Amino acid sequence: MANMPNKGFVVWFTGLPSSGKSTLAGLLAQEIPLRGLPVEILDGDEVRQRLTKGLGFSKEDRDENIRRIAFVAKLLSRNNVCAITAAISPYRSARDEAREEIGRFVEVYVRCPLETCVTRDVKGLYRRALAGEISNFTGISDPYEEPLNPEVVVETGQESTEASLRTIMTKLEELGYLALSHPQGTTHIPIPTYLVQKITARLDGEPRKSPSTYVAEVLSGLLAEEEFVVAMTGEQKALIEGRLKALGYLE
Ligand code: ADX
Repeated sequence: MANMPNKGFVVWFTGLPSSGKSTLAGLLAQEIPLRGLPVEILDGDEVRQRLTKGLGFSKEDRDENIRRIAFVAKLLSRNNVCAITAAISPYRSARDEAREEIGRFVEVYVRCPLETCVTRDVKGLYRRALAGEISNFTGISDPYEEPLNPEVVVETGQESTEASLRTIMTKLEELGYLALSHPQGTTHIPIPTYLVQKITARLDGEPRKSPSTYVAEVLSGLLAEEEFVVAMTGEQKALIEGRLKALGYLE
């Protein structure tokens, strides 16, 4: 349908090696489908084994890496997918280019002090870079240009991953990319994640229906309510009543 608004967008993580980009990308990727959107992760390490295999770490190669990631993220996001990218993307100009090209773009700066990243050293590469075994290593012998105006900054050196994730989700809601988890006129009832996942799987063929609408429908059926519990405005209700009256089904 030509006029259906696009719901896709790109969450672009950027930050030093070992700052926590991939971890947060993975956690975010679990949350987004629960809000009714399909998701794909373009993670630096995986992308470099496939889409950008053969590229190195010169500025030119990194820029090319980012350009290809941005291109795929754009294709995904314009088809109603939330594309999450997790590459260092150390150069501001390359990130700005990606932003230009994509449009619905949320830059998340994963800020973490270099010393903390070096201590974490998830892949042991800082140690090797400091020993002079790897050249052009971001943070040690290659620049990292901090974002000047990112939509989100998370401080992974001092806050929990859950807190960082919450900050990102809240921002996505504020920007209108994600439906509010707790819309007006509803009550929050915790449902176990495994059930929500089952519902999401069942709704695969009906992407426009949200898990909460589904639950409301099932419950209204179970409770044999005469009317749908599904959120309906007064106006919609009046319209339906009017039609039923016109047909003689209602007094
Ligand atoms: S980017 O700069 O082009 O955005 P990308 O995120 O794809 O980088 O790849 C970074 C990963 O490549 C690091 O997590 C690390 O495992 C590996 N790597 C190997 N050499 C380097 C290097 N010189 N600088 C940074 N990362 C490197």
